[in-house]
Amino acid sequence: MAESSIHDEEALGKAYDARLMRRLLGYVRPYRRLVLGALAFLFAEGALQLVGPFLTRRVIDVAVPARDLGMVRSAALIYLVALVAQFICSYAETLLTSLLGQRVMRDLRIEIFSHLQRLSIAFFDRNPVGRLITRVTSDVEALNEMFTAGVVAGLGDLFTLLAISIAMLVVDWRLALASFLTIPLVILTSNVFRMRVRESYREIRVRLARINAFLQERISGIRVVQLFGRERSEAARFDGLNHQHLVAHLRSIRVYALYFPVIEVLTSVALASLIVAGASRVEAGTLTVGTVALFLQLVRRFFQPLQDLSEKYNILQGAMASSERIFTLLDTEPDLAQAGALARSDPTTVGLPRAPVRGAADVAQAAEPVVHLPRKNAAGVTIEFENVWFAYDLGHVARSDRTHREPEWVLRDVSFRVTPGETMAIVGHTGAGKTTIVSLLMRFYDPQRGRITMDGVDIRDVPLEELRGAIGYVQQDIFLFAGDVASNIRLSNPLSDGAVAAAATRVGADRVIRRLPQGYAHELGERGGSISVGERQLLSFARAVAADPALLLLDEATSAVDSEIEAEIQRALAELMQGRTTIAIAHRLSTIVSSDEILVLHHGQIAERGTHRDLLARGGLYDRLYRLQVGELAMSGRASA
Ligand SMILES: Nc1ncnc2c1ncn2[C@@H]1O[C@H](COP(=O)(O)OP(=O)(O)OP(=O)(O)O)[C@@H](O)[C@H]1O
Ligand SMILES: [Mg+2]
Repeated sequence: MAESSIHDEEALGKAYDARLMRRLLGYVRPYRRLVLGALAFLFAEGALQLVGPFLTRRVIDVAVPARDLGMVRSAALIYLVALVAQFICSYAETLLTSLLGQRVMRDLRIEIFSHLQRLSIAFFDRNPVGRLITRVTSDVEALNEMFTAGVVAGLGDLFTLLAISIAMLVVDWRLALASFLTIPLVILTSNVFRMRVRESYREIRVRLARINAFLQERISGIRVVQLFGRERSEAARFDGLNHQHLVAHLRSIRVYALYFPVIEVLTSVALASLIVAGASRVEAGTLTVGTVALFLQLVRRFFQPLQDLSEKYNILQGAMASSERIFTLLDTEPDLAQAGALARSDPTTVGLPRAPVRGAADVAQAAEPVVHLPRKNAAGVTIEFENVWFAYDLGHVARSDRTHREPEWVLRDVSFRVTPGETMAIVGHTGAGKTTIVSLLMRFYDPQRGRITMDGVDIRDVPLEELRGAIGYVQQDIFLFAGDVASNIRLSNPLSDGAVAAAATRVGADRVIRRLPQGYAHELGERGGSISVGERQLLSFARAVAADPALLLLDEATSAVDSEIEAEIQRALAELMQGRTTIAIAHRLSTIVSSDEILVLHHGQIAERGTHRDLLARGGLYDRLYRLQVGELAMSGRASA
């Protein structure tokens, strides 16, 4: 599967696409002064190339016959000045084009990254991380290559070609035509070369991508590799991948190794035909030796850009493919037509499990005027789910339009209400849809049917920032960023050090933090991996309480922590829930038992609801879950005793 997506990456497109080019040039526009500067230097460089050959002719035809040493000297001096000027032009042009490429790259990367951050969670479900990173790295790099080596230098090459051919035609059109004789052959060879090399470049990139994917996966999974003693067999597989890469590389080298000698031969043929055509006329006195010498030099200089242009063409083609992929990503917007806003405006879809299903899980900002949440209630908010249906599998939804099959609902007709200050616990087997409920509340996805309200306002009408600003979320798999403890608690909230410490103290994380070598300034490893699971939980509580949200969403981790930290966590939880509405996906008995209402979720449906006591009295699913849990606790209690 991963391999086919890599192939997708490498689809070859057109070398020139006016629509893409126009859009790309939009990125260059802010830097047109740089482009103009670079072009000016390139043109100057192209013109300066003519100085040497013409000086040669003058020395041979005029200075040498007249034995005029002064003229030779001044010619040498002029040549030297021209060479220095050429050097300066080339230096300045390289600097300017690189600057241009780097600036455009920077702009594009920033744009792609900020766009990525705005995309819906459903988008990230569909797109592997590796592919997205490729957009920001290699695809942008391909464009850089185009801007620095491709477009500007390509224009320079064209200009040089033009300048040299005009010079040749003006000086002696018959000799010029004789030297142009092999050009069709050069173009033909270059075309063949271009296609071969393009093919093998593509293959090299595909193989390299496989090596990278393999390495990335094995290194992040190094624990599994070592635990299962797979070092040797993984090394063998890596060897295979490397070999494929080598074969592909050799193929491109072989193409190059053929191309350059062939061009060399063609250049020599051009020079030979020039000499043959010139010799008889020199004999007849209608042509000077100097002019022949001039042409010999010009022809050499003529073939160089010709050869370069075919390489530029490949760069252009790679860049077009990259820009196509980048623009597709930049154009990915949460799809309004499929948005929940539509499903909601159609009253027949509310609460009725009836086709057609319009919704998609992509989150879109409602096209209608936004509604702001009512003023924050000191005791929290009211949350209501009204006949909510939700499925992740969108491909399936699309198919079901044709086959009239029901999508795989993860939530079916879920309705509940939590009032300010209340705590509601959600329990249920793994995969029952508990995390999905809180994901919908945060609008990581929109439900296909039904609606969710906060203080009576449909959450799809509330600006996302305002909605999420009202919510504190403690994740099931806590994500901390590499960085110090304080900034992980603070996140985007502009809190003073004192406020951070106060939040940590409230949930009892303070003692844990102070045990760390640098306290609040302690640097956490990637994903916060350098501290224990229990410590991570306490930190994430501090993070939630620091934001002081009206609604707390708690997705408790199932992993057990030691009894000392467990006691701290329970204290912290009680503190967290104080004075706000809480929806807790709970595994801790203490959380469940003390909640105002318990929802028992079973295969996406609410199977039972009530207080702990009611539900136990019913002797149903909850009763069984509870007894399982108590049994486990008793067992672990015995084990630790
Ligand atoms: N991003 C996703 N894309 C597709 N399917 C998903 C996605 N996330 C969850 N699911 C599926 O939806 C169902 C409910 O998942 P959910 O994460 O809500 O379960 P849960 O009740 O939180 O389970 P647990 O107790 O193990 O955390 C599962 O069948 C799961 O495979
Ligand atoms: Mg879950």
